[in-house]
Amino acid sequence: MKPLLTIAATSDIHVNKYPIQRDFFSQVNGKADLLLIAGDMNDGIEEQIQHFLDLISEVKIPIFIIFGNHDANENDLPKARNLLVSNTYVTVLDGEYTESRVKNIRVGIAGAKGFGGGFAPNELRGNIGEQMMKDFRKEIDCEVEKLGSALEKMADSSPDIKIAMTHWAPFKEVIEGEHVELYPFLGSSKLGDVIEQAKVHLAISGHAHVGPSGLRMTSGGIFASNVGYLVNKEKMIFFDFLSDKTVKRRD
Ligand SMILES: [Fe+2]
Ligand SMILES: [Fe+2]
Repeated sequence: MKPLLTIAATSDIHVNKYPIQRDFFSQVNGKADLLLIAGDMNDGIEEQIQHFLDLISEVKIPIFIIFGNHDANENDLPKARNLLVSNTYVTVLDGEYTESRVKNIRVGIAGAKGFGGGFAPNELRGNIGEQMMKDFRKEIDCEVEKLGSALEKMADSSPDIKIAMTHWAPFKEVIEGEHVELYPFLGSSKLGDVIEQAKVHLAISGHAHVGPSGLRMTSGGIFASNVGYLVNKEKMIFFDFLSDKTVKRRD
């Protein structure tokens, strides 16, 4: 069955650490309709962002980017965003929703960085204790609200294909293989809850460098995938959307 459209995706490329070349990105030309990059491009330093921009400079399809925790390291995401959008193919989604038309199909993407806190029934709960812990919970709620608001816009618009993109993991299924002690620092099921409510066709995430590859079905019936660079043996991942709106991952 010929796919309706193909999405290329990757994350956690950490271009300041890994020797990634331009052809890693330019391979998507002619093979995919859209490229999604789910955060941790670098450590947020201007020269590293410029290096990343150079690496994606030969990509000639729309590129959708969210931030990861490493991109936030310099505490100046507005500056990082301004640098990234100097490439006119790039759209940055930080609690935002956007829509693309590919071959007459409307593709909606809701993206946010996300945060940690763990997974139900063992997630961080309540709002009592040290200020630092309150701030931690506040950050989770803030990121969930950002993602939720982008997903609400998606629901209002009702595109043909719905995609959610977070850096932090929204589901346990995409971090299996990591130490369970690390789970609170890898993602939050609160992100997964809003993604499941939105009934997206695909949820991609990164951050867990030792997570599973492949396409997972979550307990709530969502196709989810960890598109991390190391998780996927340094390969770009391609998702084909079929006419019944199911998705097939091509490794
Ligand atoms: Fe990473
Ligand atoms: Fe990360």
